[in-house]
Amino acid sequence: MRVMVHSQFFSQHNVSEREEEVEYALTNTSQLLLKNHPMSVTPMLHYVLDPIMTKPWNHFSDWFKNGDATAFETANGILFWDYVSSNDSKFNNLFNDAMASDTQFVTNSLLNEKCKGVFIGLESLVDVGGGTGTMAKAIAKSFPLMQCTVLDLPHVVAGLQGNENLKYVEGDMFKAIPPADAILLKSILHDWNDEECIKILKNCKKAITMEGKKGKVIIIDMVVDEENRDDESFETQLFFDTVMLAFLNGKERSKKEWINLIYSTGFDDYKITPSLDGLRSLIEIFP
Ligand SMILES: C[S@@+](CC[C@H](N)C(=O)[O-])C[C@H]1O[C@@H](n2cnc3c(N)ncnc32)[C@H](O)[C@@H]1O
Repeated sequence: MRVMVHSQFFSQHNVSEREEEVEYALTNTSQLLLKNHPMSVTPMLHYVLDPIMTKPWNHFSDWFKNGDATAFETANGILFWDYVSSNDSKFNNLFNDAMASDTQFVTNSLLNEKCKGVFIGLESLVDVGGGTGTMAKAIAKSFPLMQCTVLDLPHVVAGLQGNENLKYVEGDMFKAIPPADAILLKSILHDWNDEECIKILKNCKKAITMEGKKGKVIIIDMVVDEENRDDESFETQLFFDTVMLAFLNGKERSKKEWINLIYSTGFDDYKITPSLDGLRSLIEIFP
């Protein structure tokens, strides 16, 4: 138990002053590992600890020399997105559940009083690459007059049921995005390199129906500090940056890199609200 207490999975308390007996309790952090906790991160842990996801870490040396796109490809002989859409439905579910649990974490901050204004006045929204719809469901519930659409690949959204103001659409964001006042991209652009992001953002721009400053793309992703910081959230951002490169040939971006991307896609203006959950920021970009 010493190591578990040291790494803050448990706190240790003396049962009584005289007795040597001690008791252990879950900490605020380890409570998030409970399956029935509303913000449980267990699905994300199952996903990152699956052998398909741990194997690439042992193949960096080969990957540096062999010209493969990613360490994931070197380790598993297939690109990440091809593997997710292949016949391994267990891994597909593991991935979708992990994304849903991560999204649950950010959703509360996004829909609180500080950020809710981002959605006011919008009559329609498409959550591009919206997975099984965790974020879109929460937005649709908070804004019952807004028509929300989740666009994702067929193996993700096939058979999912919407409701009066939420629907699921199968599609490919590199081909076309359904029209809407606003387009949401959560944890999408960090999966792709700049060239691919420009293609996605150009399709988003074409899809925006609202004129003037009201129509927009709403991005939720990390904005990595340019300068080294000595804290855990900065370290986590750097690890994510490495994961995105090694698994997807993507990256986490600094403010300067975001601005370059935004302007090279022909968008006119942007607004960044930093640190939704200590890691991710809200980036609104306007045509
Ligand atoms: C990192 S996950 C993010 C999911 C969701 N936005 C979230 O944050 O929970 C990326 C999503 O993009 C979807 N995706 C990948 N390629 C796509 C494509 N070409 N068109 C539409 N969706 C795609 C994946 O299926 C997956 O659901």
